[in-house]
Amino acid sequence: MGGLSARADRRGVGASTREVIAERVDRIADGVVSLVLVTPDGSPFQPWEPGAHIDVHLGDQYVRQYSLCSSPDDLSHLRVAVLDVPGSRGGSRWIHGNVRPGDTLEISEPRNNFPVRDSRKYLFLAGGIGITPIIPMIERAAEAGKDWRLVYGGRSRGSMAFAEQLVGTYGDRVDVVAEDERGRMDLAGVLALPRAHMLVYACGPGGMLRAVEDLCMGWPPGSLHTERFAATALGPGSVAEPFEVELARSGKTVSVPTDRTILEAVEDVGVRVLSSCRQGLCGTCETTVVSGEPEHRDAVLTQDDQDGGATMMICVSRAAAGCGRLVLDL
Ligand code: FES
Repeated sequence: MGGLSARADRRGVGASTREVIAERVDRIADGVVSLVLVTPDGSPFQPWEPGAHIDVHLGDQYVRQYSLCSSPDDLSHLRVAVLDVPGSRGGSRWIHGNVRPGDTLEISEPRNNFPVRDSRKYLFLAGGIGITPIIPMIERAAEAGKDWRLVYGGRSRGSMAFAEQLVGTYGDRVDVVAEDERGRMDLAGVLALPRAHMLVYACGPGGMLRAVEDLCMGWPPGSLHTERFAATALGPGSVAEPFEVELARSGKTVSVPTDRTILEAVEDVGVRVLSSCRQGLCGTCETTVVSGEPEHRDAVLTQDDQDGGATMMICVSRAAAGCGRLVLDL
């Protein structure tokens, strides 16, 4: 089960966009619409791997990232599923309220921050709309004859997109846990025993992912892979401090006050950096750290990448406490 290297796939592709037609807009579960996107001339999309997402440009106001849930073996269309999140910052609301069949949308080419490594066995854990990136992963695992299992939790069956199709296609490899029938997913039971040669891929709300991370502490390093919908909250005791950033290539130094991001401060002095979500979610603004210690606040880099400190997402991450100066390759 291949996958592009997360790092190679993240860099430098945020600017490439294309127009697509929303061929179908279907309500597939309570509060969830599916968009089937095709190219205007019917040409195929470029190849992508399970775990990939696209940026969707929503009017002039928003750019949001949605995981692809169509088949990577069928490039005639792309499919995303969008949950109408009450109180959302506007992206999902905009799609639910505005996109109709036949509308033109602008999207990025697929990018992958959640690639799947080859393994003998997989445990897939999905919470709510977090099922979307997992669907192509399952398809690949099934095609390759891997040993896999999905535990998929949600409020009720009616709110769980694709639940019926997954059970219909894959039978008892899929465990659908509707909270109003069986209570919450028994993550402690599912993850109780670390298993050799098994990788865990989890996508869902922050609370679920924090529980999965805690429960996987005793698993072999590298077993767990997660995708979040929101950047990481600051740890206890973290405070925003002002600091300086030296831009090694342009020879400028900028001050980053407590109420500005590095990205904003850099843009203020006329240095252009590719960016998209500006929330630490998409990986577009990833920047090489020449020296200094970052405090990572993004949801893109793996723990190993963050510990290595070679790059950082400058839309949300800052200098670590006590590090008054970062030098970046800008
Ligand atoms: S712009 Fe998306 S992670 Fe920074």
